[in-house]
Amino acid sequence: MDKIIITGGAGFIGSHVCERLLDEGRYVVCVDDFNDYYRPEIKERNIKNCLKSNRFSLHRLDIRDENKLDTVFKKEKIDKIIHLAARAGVRASLKEPQLYFSVNIGGTLNLLDMARRHKISQFIFSSSSSVYGTNKKIPFSEEDKAGNQVSPYAVSKKVAELLCHSYSKIYKLRVICLRLFTVYGPRGRPDMAPYKFTEKILNQQAIEMYGNGSSQRDYTYVGDIVEGIVKTLSCEREFEIINLGNSEPVKLIEFINIIEDLLGKKADIIQKPMPRGDVPITYADNSKASKILNWRPKTDIMEGMKRFIAWYRLESKSG
Ligand SMILES: NC(=O)c1ccc[n+]([C@@H]2O[C@H](COP(=O)([O-])OP(=O)(O)OC[C@H]3O[C@@H](n4cnc5c(N)ncnc54)[C@H](O)[C@@H]3O)[C@@H](O)[C@H]2O)c1
Repeated sequence: MDKIIITGGAGFIGSHVCERLLDEGRYVVCVDDFNDYYRPEIKERNIKNCLKSNRFSLHRLDIRDENKLDTVFKKEKIDKIIHLAARAGVRASLKEPQLYFSVNIGGTLNLLDMARRHKISQFIFSSSSSVYGTNKKIPFSEEDKAGNQVSPYAVSKKVAELLCHSYSKIYKLRVICLRLFTVYGPRGRPDMAPYKFTEKILNQQAIEMYGNGSSQRDYTYVGDIVEGIVKTLSCEREFEIINLGNSEPVKLIEFINIIEDLLGKKADIIQKPMPRGDVPITYADNSKASKILNWRPKTDIMEGMKRFIAWYRLESKSG
């Protein structure tokens, strides 16, 4: 069985990937620095179950620390890398662009270099739909130029993709960049709309709606994303960029209505201007993922949000 390192493995998506690979009987090495972008206790909880497995090891380190990373790679004899660690969050990247560049670009470069030095057989990188920026053509296709990034976060992901491409070409590394579209579901990040809206509506606090509610996001259920990542592990291609998105964008106001219906509570909405760095729409063309990975999203927004809210209620009870 392959031994797979998952950077950012204690995060939202990473912890689901760790659990899924352990369920498949694989060996999982998790690297995470448990930073305080959101409460580190949440990340500790995310991997609580994984820690019970003797096929799981955890290294608490910053991916910018090349020496510590190298020690892990020497010790663990890794076969494949799933690189998810990043500073996520478009809006926060406007406040701390240097930090976003150092982690998302510098950190990715370190991991690519580990892949080269330690003869890793495959590198999977979590890119983002935000690289399409204000792309006019919808749905967004991997063939599109993707040169209209409007936030430091989006730029950092685009540069990281370019580094992936160059390392793949120079060192014959097998690299797949997955462009993930607004991922949601159990363990969802507290800075993202599904969590913030659910929390506030339940606690009868006002929610902020940016713009007039017509902006659209291609919400994609975390279980579908995990399935896409697992399928990518058997992809033999040398270099590809592949969208993983639901391909059914939802208007912000409709998204709020869905949460209201599921909670049986009305939201108190305060309208705010669109923040700088936000884009009007994300919308994935999934035909490449379907052709190359045989991947299709299975979870619609109603079902996914039902599962998210069920998880949220349990979590908030357990404190
Ligand atoms: N959630 C989404 O909607 C979405 C969409 C597109 C792309 N992505 C990408 O998917 C990946 C995972 O996102 P997520 O939503 O699970 O975010 P997350 O913040 O929950 O997970 C990221 C994890 O990386 C860790 N990390 C951050 N900087 C690190 C560093 N310097 N060293 C070691 N660990 C570090 C964090 O502690 C965290 O546990 C990220 O690369 C993100 O950019 C997410």
